Amino acid sequence: MKQSNILVTGGAGFIGTNFIRHLFRNVGFEGRVINLDKLTYAGNPMNLADIAEEYGDRYVFARVDIVDRDRVARLLDDHEIDIICHFAAESHVDRSIVDPGVFIQTNVVGTYALLELARERVDRVRHFHHVSTDEVYGSLESGGYFREDTPYQPNSPYSASKAASDHLVRAYSATYGLPVTISNCSNNYGPYQFPEKLMPLMIVNALEGKPLPVYGDGRNVRDWLYVTDHCRAVWTTIEKGEKGRTYNIGGRNEMPNIRVVETVCDLVDELAPPLGNGKPRRSLVTFVKDRPGHDRRYAIDCTRIENELGWTPQESFETGIRKTVQWYLDNPQWVDTVRSGEYQRWIRTHYGNAASET
Ligand code: NAD
Ligand code: DAU
Repeated sequence: MKQSNILVTGGAGFIGTNFIRHLFRNVGFEGRVINLDKLTYAGNPMNLADIAEEYGDRYVFARVDIVDRDRVARLLDDHEIDIICHFAAESHVDRSIVDPGVFIQTNVVGTYALLELARERVDRVRHFHHVSTDEVYGSLESGGYFREDTPYQPNSPYSASKAASDHLVRAYSATYGLPVTISNCSNNYGPYQFPEKLMPLMIVNALEGKPLPVYGDGRNVRDWLYVTDHCRAVWTTIEKGEKGRTYNIGGRNEMPNIRVVETVCDLVDELAPPLGNGKPRRSLVTFVKDRPGHDRRYAIDCTRIENELGWTPQESFETGIRKTVQWYLDNPQWVDTVRSGEYQRWIRTHYGNAASET
């Protein structure tokens, strides 16, 4: 596997960036990595500038939309791709509520386009790994865990589009014998995450002394996983996963949002200069209008990938969140570069001023 040529879609985004870094830095990948990314607001090719310099033509970046079949086909053929690892997606639930169309286009039509191209090259493409989310299973209101056989019940346009793409991938395996695996993962956090998602938004706002907008009562629960653990799980699935099979990935780390936010506040108080008014950052917490259709609780049962593939998370929440806060403190320029004015205007309109000043 290490000698393959791999196409990574969405490699300029949060998890894709960390995955490509993991391949070169930890796996000792020996083949060629082609990073195909449209560069939406969420993609930043400079995340991998050091990799591009160090690995020369073993790392190639191509600004391409996955829906553009001719250009993707050329990349698959020119680079003799034998593994496709598909991260590219519109990934933010709030955006999907305001503008679902692009989610259907990229997540559904784009995945279909990639599947067709892989099907046409089934002699050469020996693995198509589809990266998906635990949100396809809906919301756990009264206990229990998401297992691989939990029925799909997506509640947002984002999760519905991911569910549709999962079904297509599964269907291409059953119908055409495409060698696929699917992984459904819980909430990731770590370096290079766009500061619209809960953890980086809270870090950046806390640093700047801005309001910390917590949706609803702050008691919604997510299962947090450090991004490198997700990347290890994806590579393990590519190496050892059974074709046609789905693997749930999670951190066994359930946390109400308010606890995540308070932990961020305490770490920023410890690691950064104090606020001008001398108050602790927890004073910035502002409860705002709830997200429509807000899923109450996610929790993953990851027994299958642990037992069958021998993967377990390595990072604890305490060490992972400390590393993450420190990374954002050390990389203010990265934050400035990726922040989008347009998105901030939308947040202001939708959630009011508490979320507007990021
Ligand atoms: P992200 O938004 O940070 O990155 C997505 C990347 O895809 C960006 O670089 C963007 O430019 C690119 N992209 C978007 N549309 C494209 C298109 N049409 N063609 C080519 N590239 C395009 O997202 P992320 O958080 O890194 O998530 C990556 C994948 O992992 C997604 O499929 C997401 O559903 C899944 N996932 C994310 C999480 C999480 O917590 N972030 C958890 C589970 C699963
Ligand atoms: O579960 C996996 C999913 O995790 C991925 O599939 C998605 O791509 C990823 O974005 C993430 O989805 P969430 O909706 O859970 O992540 P988000 O960071 O947007 O929100 C996490 C929780 O925090 C959620 O309950 C909403 C809440 N929240 C979020 C933001 C941005 C707030 O309370 N305030 C905020 O400002």
